[in-house]
Amino acid sequence: MDITDRVVVITGASSGIGEATARLAHARGAHLVLVARRGDRLAALADELPGAEAVGADVTIPGDRRLIIDAATERFGRIDVLVNNAGRGLHVPLADVDPVDHVAILELNVVAALAMMQAVLPAMRAQHEGAIVNISSGTSKRVIPGVGAYAATKTALNMLSAVAREEFAPDGIVVSTVLPTYTASDFHDVLQAGQGPQRAPADADTVEHVAEEILRAIETGEAEIALPPMIPAGGR
Ligand SMILES: NC(=O)c1ccc[n+]([C@@H]2O[C@H](COP(=O)([O-])OP(=O)(O)OC[C@H]3O[C@@H](n4cnc5c(N)ncnc54)[C@H](OP(=O)(O)O)[C@@H]3O)[C@@H](O)[C@H]2O)c1
Repeated sequence: MDITDRVVVITGASSGIGEATARLAHARGAHLVLVARRGDRLAALADELPGAEAVGADVTIPGDRRLIIDAATERFGRIDVLVNNAGRGLHVPLADVDPVDHVAILELNVVAALAMMQAVLPAMRAQHEGAIVNISSGTSKRVIPGVGAYAATKTALNMLSAVAREEFAPDGIVVSTVLPTYTASDFHDVLQAGQGPQRAPADADTVEHVAEEILRAIETGEAEIALPPMIPAGGR
């Protein structure tokens, strides 16, 4: 799908990968619906991206999900793309995982991700067209001690995304999964619990590169884009 003039809903747009995706999609002519809980950051971003609609919302709350869909359809009359990006980490050894923390990231990374797919379905089905990109993680493809509980949520998301791709295809909706690797963002500071890996910035991917790959997923409709585990020395 060419995103020029398309209505693109991006969850987790207040920072990191979601914010970079919003900037790139805006530069390519998309109409944006920016979603996150920090309304002040969204409002500042919307000021920089003329025409963007900012919706302060928590994707784990059913009423907030309805607000997002209402805001998008009232403002633009359609929803072409969902970038299902809001997510959070939990980086502690399995022996120490607090079930309360585990439920919280399951609710956000898995349950809310599916609920957001369900929320955009009526609009996309009516158009007989749409693209959904679910943001997973490379941790779901490798066994990495210390991130098991988080990786398990993203592994569940991979399956939901793959099944959704099959189930929604007859409605003209293309579902893709993008799996970023270690990326420099606030993610490592706002974990549900635990500590992110201490890695040199030179080893980290950039949010701008991940955003390019997310837009590529929309444009090509590829089933899965797994980013390489490390950027080669010298960067991209
Ligand atoms: N950074 C990495 O190394 C990495 C690697 C692989 C995959 N990922 C995945 O990439 C995605 C984006 O992460 P990031 O690196 O950009 O981290 P980030 O900068 O912390 O961004 C996370 C975004 O999710 C939003 N969010 C969190 N809880 C929310 C909720 N309940 N409702 C609505 N929005 C919510 C946050 O906004 P508010 O706090 O304002 O709500 C923020 O905009 C996540 O799904 C993450 O799992 C990241």
